[in-house]
Amino acid sequence: RIAYVDGRYVRHANACVHIEDRGYQFADAVYEVWSVFNGRLADTQGHLDRLDRSLNELRIETPMTRPALLVVLYEVIRRNRIKDGMVYLQVSRGAAPRDHFFPAGVKPTLVITARSVDRKVAAAKAETGIKVITQPDIRWGRCDIKTVGLLPNVLAKQAAKDAGASDVLFVDSEGFITEGGSANAYIVDQAGVIRTRSLTANILAGITRAQLLKILGSTDIQVKEEAFSVAQALGAKEVFVTAATSLVMPIVDIDGHKIADGKPGPVATALRAAYIENAI
Ligand code: PDD
Repeated sequence: RIAYVDGRYVRHANACVHIEDRGYQFADAVYEVWSVFNGRLADTQGHLDRLDRSLNELRIETPMTRPALLVVLYEVIRRNRIKDGMVYLQVSRGAAPRDHFFPAGVKPTLVITARSVDRKVAAAKAETGIKVITQPDIRWGRCDIKTVGLLPNVLAKQAAKDAGASDVLFVDSEGFITEGGSANAYIVDQAGVIRTRSLTANILAGITRAQLLKILGSTDIQVKEEAFSVAQALGAKEVFVTAATSLVMPIVDIDGHKIADGKPGPVATALRAAYIENAI
């Protein structure tokens, strides 16, 4: 495997950044994840737009122009011979002697990695659906910025794994679901209306979410960008999450309670197929 680190293509096994990189010391870094279908990045511009936004919000310098970045992204895909897979990109503020203040004259650190994904395994998972647990949303107030400060997500997702589930639904102090551990969350309510939380600083504006809403715009399925409670999710016809990694993933069990008949529903299943068809 080959990784891109600060201007060089290096063996993945030997790839490293400095011990005083601010991504490592302060989580002073942002990231993006793309899925790759047939050697092509899915939702390319959407992820690049969000990367720009995350960098702007944190006042981290853009590491290179968009055309240059696209060349590097595709070079990493090519060198790793990725047909179906994932690309991970991370930009930190750079390496400097540890000090909370922004360092002067430091260049951002850019790292890009890629790996293959077995779409058959993912498809099998989507056919069964996943179990999740709810967890209090203890994350910071700027979840709209895609930073590598993911400790609450890590702890929550590990708690899910320990409980025999594969993801979490974060719940705010009012009992409303914000999003998944690394995905946006939706329900299909008893009226057949899709509900997903509106975009605020409390959740990440998923690129898969944006694409899904676009797809839904050309169907007669009604969508409401409104928060839903845990109780509403438990009583829903369907629950699902979306992300560049899991695409559209049905949830069939929350905290040990089956959703409907405990099988993936028709809406999530159709939307998964529609998303993939669009991305290919
Ligand atoms: N996570 N919400 C959170 C908290 C996320 O971490 C992600 C993505 C999403 C979905 O965003 P998108 O559709 O743009 O992937 C929502 C990535 C995949 C990750 O952390 O691996």
